Amino acid sequence: MSVQAETLLSVRGVETYYGKIVALRGVDIDVHRGEIVTMIGANGAGKSTLMMTICGQPQARNGQVIYDGQDITLMPTHEIISLGIAQSPEGRRIFPRMTVMENLQMGAALVDPGLFDEDLAKVFKLFPRLKERIAQRGGTLSGGEQQMLAIARALMSRPKLLLLDEPSLGLAPLIVKQIFDAIRVLNEEEGLTVFLVEQNAFHALKLAHRGYVMVNGNITMSGTGAELLKREEVRAAYLEGGRH
Ligand SMILES: Nc1ncnc2c1ncn2[C@@H]1O[C@H](COP(=O)(O)OP(=O)(O)OP(=O)(O)O)[C@@H](O)[C@H]1O
Ligand SMILES: [Mg+2]
Repeated sequence: MSVQAETLLSVRGVETYYGKIVALRGVDIDVHRGEIVTMIGANGAGKSTLMMTICGQPQARNGQVIYDGQDITLMPTHEIISLGIAQSPEGRRIFPRMTVMENLQMGAALVDPGLFDEDLAKVFKLFPRLKERIAQRGGTLSGGEQQMLAIARALMSRPKLLLLDEPSLGLAPLIVKQIFDAIRVLNEEEGLTVFLVEQNAFHALKLAHRGYVMVNGNITMSGTGAELLKREEVRAAYLEGGRH
């Protein structure tokens, strides 16, 4: 990464509410082009809310989300997506009745059809398991395969920024490793920018260039992945006895 890293996503003072309940209390984060940035935090900290706020659903009540120099805070979700942000939401949310192929076609809906075969070959190279299951319905895939499909579907939209919400959730360590390896390959080989939300702090901080810690709707710490992994507060709260 160059010293003068170019900011792709900038979240400034974002406050998000569910009715009267505040979920984000003034969040600031930056994601530079070509980076993997992670946000770790416990259940209910507001991680998914931040990811959804970036996508405009729910919208921030105060503060700003700037993407690629443009203020997207109050933009409708479909417009945000059309700018090159793809989300693999928590709980995977693939289309369970559609086949693997149909799910991938949905992901590619906004892309030039002439690029489909090339993009399909790319995601199958990344996740060979999906190629073997091409005609299988999404809902009958294993948890790990569904997670691969959710990421692959997001990739089919050719994103400039990939948002991943807890891709390791409920998966065996070997599958988590495969998925995190795939994210690293995408970043290293394609320069894809990734914002990753995780409770699995150990893997996330090992993978990411930089990280943030969220507690109760606030960012409490930030630093490089390696720095955060060494911090006593991080180790005590998110690593010792946690999911390694
Ligand atoms: N639709 C909603 N309506 C009301 N409150 C909500 C809604 N969604 C989330 N919340 C609340 O907002 C807070 C933040 O939730 P959020 O889902 O963002 O946390 P999280 O960090 O993603 O947690 P987890 O690790 O469990 O996924 C929680 O207190 C949650 O109960
Ligand atoms: Mg969540």
